[in-house]
Amino acid sequence: MTTQEIRKKYLDFFQKQQHVIVPSASLLPENDPTTLFTGSGMQPMVPFLLGQPHPMGTRIADSQKCFRSGDIEEVGDNRHTTFFEMLGNWSLGDYFKTEQIRWMWAFLTEELKLDPSRLYFTCFRGNETLGIPKDTEAAEQWQSLLQEAGVSAEIVDFSERDGMQGGRIFYYDEKKNWWSRSGVPGKMPVGEPGGPDTEMFWDFGEDLKLHEQSQWKDEPCHVNCDCGRFVEIGNNVFMQYQKTEQGFEQLPQKNVDFGGGLERMAAAVRDNQDVFTIDLFDGAREIIESMSGRTYGAVEGETYAFRVILDHLRAATFVVADGAFPSNKDQGYFTRRLIRRSVRFAKNLGIETSFTARVVEAYIETYKGHYPDLESKKQQIIDEIEKEELKFRKTLEQGIKQFEQVVSGKETGSASGAAPGKQIISATEAFDLYQSFGFPIELTEELAKERGLSVDLEGFQVEKEKHQALSRAGAEQKFKGGLSDHSDMSVKYHTATHLLHAAILKILGPHATQKGSNITPERLRFDFAHGEKMTDEQKQQVETLVNAAIERDYPVTFEILPIEEAKKKGAIGLFEDNYGEQVKVYTVGDPSGVPQADPSAETFSREFCGGPHVEHTGLLGKFRIVKEEACSAGVRRIKAVLE
Ligand code: ALA
Repeated sequence: MTTQEIRKKYLDFFQKQQHVIVPSASLLPENDPTTLFTGSGMQPMVPFLLGQPHPMGTRIADSQKCFRSGDIEEVGDNRHTTFFEMLGNWSLGDYFKTEQIRWMWAFLTEELKLDPSRLYFTCFRGNETLGIPKDTEAAEQWQSLLQEAGVSAEIVDFSERDGMQGGRIFYYDEKKNWWSRSGVPGKMPVGEPGGPDTEMFWDFGEDLKLHEQSQWKDEPCHVNCDCGRFVEIGNNVFMQYQKTEQGFEQLPQKNVDFGGGLERMAAAVRDNQDVFTIDLFDGAREIIESMSGRTYGAVEGETYAFRVILDHLRAATFVVADGAFPSNKDQGYFTRRLIRRSVRFAKNLGIETSFTARVVEAYIETYKGHYPDLESKKQQIIDEIEKEELKFRKTLEQGIKQFEQVVSGKETGSASGAAPGKQIISATEAFDLYQSFGFPIELTEELAKERGLSVDLEGFQVEKEKHQALSRAGAEQKFKGGLSDHSDMSVKYHTATHLLHAAILKILGPHATQKGSNITPERLRFDFAHGEKMTDEQKQQVETLVNAAIERDYPVTFEILPIEEAKKKGAIGLFEDNYGEQVKVYTVGDPSGVPQADPSAETFSREFCGGPHVEHTGLLGKFRIVKEEACSAGVRRIKAVLE
C-alpha cells in the first residue's frame, strides 16, 4: 500500500461517513497572529470549533499540510520531520466519541489492515481540580473492540514506576492526554478551546530491543516512551471545553478533532520505523543517491545528512509554494534555514554542485497528483530555492576566505613560540563564522583540523546559547499576546482590512488585487498588486474612504453562497475555491445591495472570507496608514493602525 493510497483510503473512508473533503489550507495561516505556520490540521478549523457554522456542514475531513519549525534541529533520526501531512476529520457539534472510536478502529484494522494485537491506546485520567472526569467511556470502548478481535485488553493507570504493567489501554494525565493549541490546561489562554484526547499507537515490537539500546534503558518502557518502540499514529481530541477566567466551561457544541500523521501511518503499515523509507521520499532519495554516489542507510553519519536534505527540501518546496520565499524575516527566515542546512549537509555527502532543483523537481513529481498547485508553480518554486542555494554557496566561499584570515593570524602567532596543535580558534571567531557566514561548527572544526588547529567548542556553545536565548526572548515578545486577550483587536483589524481592500480597488483601480494579509493585535498589513509607489494624495484618499465607511457604521454580516453566485454579487478576495462549491461571504453594509466602496451607497464591500468580523464598522475607531512600501516586484505593502 503506498502512502498516497493511504491518504486516499482515509479520505474515501470519511467521505463514506458523510464527511465533506476539503482541500488543505495554506501553510501560512491568514489572520492568525498566534503562529507563523500551520502546524496542525485543526488550526484552520478553530472558528468552526468555537461555533461559527462551516460552509460545508458539520462533518469535514482533509489531509492538511503542516510545518513545525521548532523541529528543524530534531531532524536526522528515523522519525522527525518538519513538514508532514496530517489526516484530519472533524465533527462540528455532530457525532462524538462513540462514532469516532468505532470509525478509527475500522479504518486502522479493516482499511489499513493493521494487526489489532499491535495497537495500543491511551485515555485521559481525569483531573478533579479542573472538574474534568476520567474518560472511562473511551477506554471501555477500545477495550470491547479489542476483545471482540480476540486481543487481551487490560486497562491500567499508567505509572512511571511500573511501566506497561501488562496493559493495553492506559490512563495518562493532561501532559499526554489533553490537547489544545497551547498545550496543557494551565498554558491555555482564556477563550481557547481544548479537551481530553485518546491516542492510538503502533508497536514496532519488543523483539527489536529498541528500549534496551536507548538512553531510557534503565527506566520501564511505556507507549509514550521515546525509545522508538511505539509510534503515535493518531489523536482523537474531544474538543468540548473552553478555558474561562474561572476554569473550564463546556463549549456550546461538542466537537471531535482528529489528527493523524500520514507518514507515521505509512510507517506502521510497512512496519518499518524509518519514515524516510516510505514511497513519498523515493524520487528525491534516488536523486540524492545518484548525485552523491552514496547509498541511503549505508553509513550512519551519511544517513543523517540524507534525512536532513530529504526533510528540508520537501518542506522548502511546500512553504515556497505557499508563498514563504527565502528571506531574513518571519516565515521566509525558516525557508532560508531549510535551504542552507540542506546545502551544508549535502557537503557531507560530497555534493558540491547545485542540486536543489533536481531534488525539488522530484518532490513536485511525487506530490503533484494531490497538490496540483505544485505543478503550476513549479518553475517559481525551483527558482526561489535554487537562487537561495547559489547565494548561500557564495556566502560559504566568503566564509572560507574569512576562515583563512582567522587562521593566517594564528600562523603568525605560532611563529612566536606556541606549539602547533595548541593553537585554537576562539569561541568568538567560531561564532562569528557561524553567525555571519552560516558556517556550521562542524565545518569550522574540520577546516581547523586540517591545519592542526583546534576550536574552543565549549565556548562556542556558550556563545550560541546566549544568542539563542536572546532571539527566543525576541520571538516570544513578537508572538505573545495571542488569542483571547487581544483577539478583539485582531477582529477589528480584520474588518478594517476588508474596508481597505475595497478602498484600494476603488482608488487605484481593479488591478490592485490582494496579494496577502497579516494581522496582529497591533496593526494590519496588506499586500496588493500595484507597480508603483502610491502618491500622498492616493494614500489620503484611501484613508478618507476607510474612515468614512467606519463613520457610516455599516452592519457586517455574512452569508453562505455558491461560489458562482458570490462572484456575481461582486464579492472580491483571494478565493481559490478553498471550500469547494459553497463559500462564505462577508458584506459591509446592506447584504442585498451591490458593493460600491462609496460611503453614500448602502453596500460598501463584499468579500470571500472565513471571518470573524466585528458586527458594525463603527467599532473600529480611526484608521491610519503608517507605511506604504514595496514588498516584491509589482506588489506594494501597506501597514495601518486603528487609533
Ligand atoms: N489537533 C490534534 C493534534 O494535532 C488532533 O494532535
